[in-house]
Amino acid sequence: MFDSLLDLLICPGCQGRKLKLNQTEYQQEEIWKAEILCENCSRSYPIIDGIPCMLNREQLDAQQGDVLQEWAQKVKDIDKDIVDADMDTYKHLCRKRTGSNGVSEDAERLLWEKKLFIDNQVLKEEIGDKLAAKWMVEKKNLQVRNNHVFRFLDEIDNQFEQKWILNVGPGVDEDLISRLELKGINLINLDIILEPLINLRSKSRECMCADIKSLPFDNGTFDAVFCFHVIHHAHPIEQALSEVGRVLKTNGKVFITEINPNHFVSFQGKLIPRAIKRFIRKCARKHVGTNSRIYKPSPFEEVIPRKVLMNAMIKTGFDNITRKTVVHAPQCFPDAVISIWNKMGFKFPTVFDPIAFEYMFFGKKSRAETQPQKAEVNNGQELK
Ligand SMILES: C[S@@+](CC[C@H](N)C(=O)[O-])C[C@H]1O[C@@H](n2cnc3c(N)ncnc32)[C@H](O)[C@@H]1O
Ligand SMILES: [Zn+2]
Repeated sequence: MFDSLLDLLICPGCQGRKLKLNQTEYQQEEIWKAEILCENCSRSYPIIDGIPCMLNREQLDAQQGDVLQEWAQKVKDIDKDIVDADMDTYKHLCRKRTGSNGVSEDAERLLWEKKLFIDNQVLKEEIGDKLAAKWMVEKKNLQVRNNHVFRFLDEIDNQFEQKWILNVGPGVDEDLISRLELKGINLINLDIILEPLINLRSKSRECMCADIKSLPFDNGTFDAVFCFHVIHHAHPIEQALSEVGRVLKTNGKVFITEINPNHFVSFQGKLIPRAIKRFIRKCARKHVGTNSRIYKPSPFEEVIPRKVLMNAMIKTGFDNITRKTVVHAPQCFPDAVISIWNKMGFKFPTVFDPIAFEYMFFGKKSRAETQPQKAEVNNGQELK
């Protein structure tokens, strides 16, 4: 972390602005290890390997150590028992059986994100360079999505130079980060877990470990915020959106991508009987060569219908809301099919948009406050 970042920060616990550094160790010109102390409430936040961790106490405890180990073992056992359950049963049982372990809900959300990230890495290793890896892990969909995002950005605003942008939940999408950096912006990558940030930090990217529902930045800090595939992890979504609105400058922009609950595969999934779906899951695991579930949703994830997201954005003070489809094909399709499907989708949007995989909302914060108010809406219209 560079010293200059401290000027943008507030304490996520009490919103206090008086923060000071203790026990600071530098590596080259950056703060590598230190403690950020809030002079107002005396909470402290560690800087670990150059990454400030501005989470609450329970979340900080869950990030490493015994809490994580014990919890991970518990979930591993549950996984083994219900490996072939359908998604809703899996989420319900996981929530029920991990819910009574004395960890706060905030910490539990964080632990699930860690599990998703680690499971994905394990799956990648198990699959190795089998053909299935091309289908399941190295998806072309992210680049396709980002191509459309950047075309859209150029249509509405290409003045990103020297602006401050917050990228929430980068995950493993380095494509987006490097393309944003090429535009000469000041980018901060923020995630609730350390794992994806450690990789980004090792490439000298400015990172912040924090929760979107309690952002450690002062009001009106950013010109734009990107939340790609994150909001459905952070229910109730109004809390996350209000925080995004708070840290945006007036006229600042938010870009949100989310999965369409009615995308093609989900629609098909509703029609196929459970026993057949279980059989397909078994075959897929055998083909990939893994004994664990391939798709492991967190019980805290809940996809968001477009209308619900739009209404939540209005309620939290955004207007000029515009919707755009960014990817038509579901991720589980082979790359060649993804290419054809997406091309067809963009050619015939009326037919393909309702069942497209990913949609994007763009909104502008045009008021200083984020109290619920009536806002002007470009009623779900596509930008040509
Ligand atoms: C599905 S991944 C999306 C990754 C990438 N942006 C993409 O589009 O593929 C969700 C990311 O959001 C992060 N995340 C989940 N809940 C969060 C929260 N409450 N605050 C900040 N980040 C969160 C996860 O750790 C993960 O990296
Ligand atoms: Zn404080």
